[in-house]
Amino acid sequence: MNQAEANQTTIRDVAAHVGQTVRIGCWLTRKRSSGKIQFLQLRDGTGFIQGVAAKNEVDEATWAAADRLTQESSLWVTGVVREEPRSPSGYELSVTGVEIIHLTSDYPITPKEHGIDFLMDHRHLWLRSPKQHAVMTTRATIVRAIQEFFDTRGFTQVDAPILTPTSAEGTTNLFHTKYFDEDAFLTQSGQLYMEAAAMALGKVYSFGPTFRAEKSKTRRHLIEFWMIEPEMAFVDHEENLRVQEQFVSHVVQTVLAKNAKELATLERDTSKLEKALAPFPRITYDDAVKFLNANGFPEFVWGEDFGAPHETAIAESYEKPVFITHYPTSLKAFYMKPDPDRPDVVLCADLIAPEGYGEIIGGSQRIDDPALMEQRFDEHHLSKETYSWYLDLRKYGSVPHSGFGLGLERTVAWICGLDHVRETIPFPRLLYRLYP
Ligand code: 4AD
Repeated sequence: MNQAEANQTTIRDVAAHVGQTVRIGCWLTRKRSSGKIQFLQLRDGTGFIQGVAAKNEVDEATWAAADRLTQESSLWVTGVVREEPRSPSGYELSVTGVEIIHLTSDYPITPKEHGIDFLMDHRHLWLRSPKQHAVMTTRATIVRAIQEFFDTRGFTQVDAPILTPTSAEGTTNLFHTKYFDEDAFLTQSGQLYMEAAAMALGKVYSFGPTFRAEKSKTRRHLIEFWMIEPEMAFVDHEENLRVQEQFVSHVVQTVLAKNAKELATLERDTSKLEKALAPFPRITYDDAVKFLNANGFPEFVWGEDFGAPHETAIAESYEKPVFITHYPTSLKAFYMKPDPDRPDVVLCADLIAPEGYGEIIGGSQRIDDPALMEQRFDEHHLSKETYSWYLDLRKYGSVPHSGFGLGLERTVAWICGLDHVRETIPFPRLLYRLYP
């Protein structure tokens, strides 16, 4: 190992090298010069740091290289690590050497403001910005916190197929494709497969991409989004809600503990997130309708579905996420179990995030009675032949069971405080956007 390699480190690890000379592979994000000093804003994927090159302290070649550096050029920088309380990272680099790896010209994303379409067209480059870096880092924490929650509570991760012969959530937004000579669809939800897996493994969850050909151009809709779908045998509606509130609290607390720096970059008001602790308030659909009628939506009629403005109005009454439970049977999916005391509503809940971020979870207790399930198939005009494997689950040792699906991107949008889900996923698939 030569001297340069011995000193090699990353921006994340500079704290361990105060007073030492280090070498870091990085990119230049911005440069400011006072004539005698060049301030180099550097990033290496692990973090951001300022490098300071003083003309009277560096050799001529280093000064000339620093001078030539353009935005997003790649380089090896050498320098002495100093503590600098005024810098966001807490450290600074007194530059002693600059070795250009690749000199960039005409980087498209300049420090000026760009329109959203331009940024989306350059998503592959936009990801390099501090804000996007903070979102992706936080998303990764959320993914790990999700898996950790279920892995430490006796759940087995089971993967659901992406190509399916049937739909789980209605037929209006299915992505169709050919599967050799058969018709196939990209999965809308792994739920039905998780129900099969729960009968084999007890408590399971899937975590994967799901697809909905929704012609909705809203700030909450993606065409391709990631869903975590736990399914639990011998668990009823009440217990299902308890798992959900513990789960969401765990995810929020983990991000608060691990991503303070990122949340600061995103200017997230964390005092609002700190309130997302279980238990969460609950309101029935009936009471939500009464609330809406008295608070700005006098025309809203029992039996209609809530839109974003309704959800926001309800969520505004609470500081925590709120469950809306017992929706009309006619509004919800075929597999939801009717309330035994009131069959016109189902044992279901949507979890609405605070601050107008909308529904992040949809879940329910499932029908376990074989005769009722067959009746639902008839009512919904579903083919008992195509779904015969699913009906088998009620034929052979049917048990009460429940589950839910949490949309990862809406959760990231809420926790990061982002206006739109398009920034929560590295390469968003939106209505009319498949590039890059
Ligand atoms: O309420 P949904 O449609 O529920 C299901 O798919 C069930 N099969 C889940 C289950 O019980 N296993 O969707 C669940 C969540 C929503 O609450 C939302 O967070 C997210 O998935 N979601 C979307 N996220 C982004 N873009 C879209 N187009 C979404 N559609 C649903």
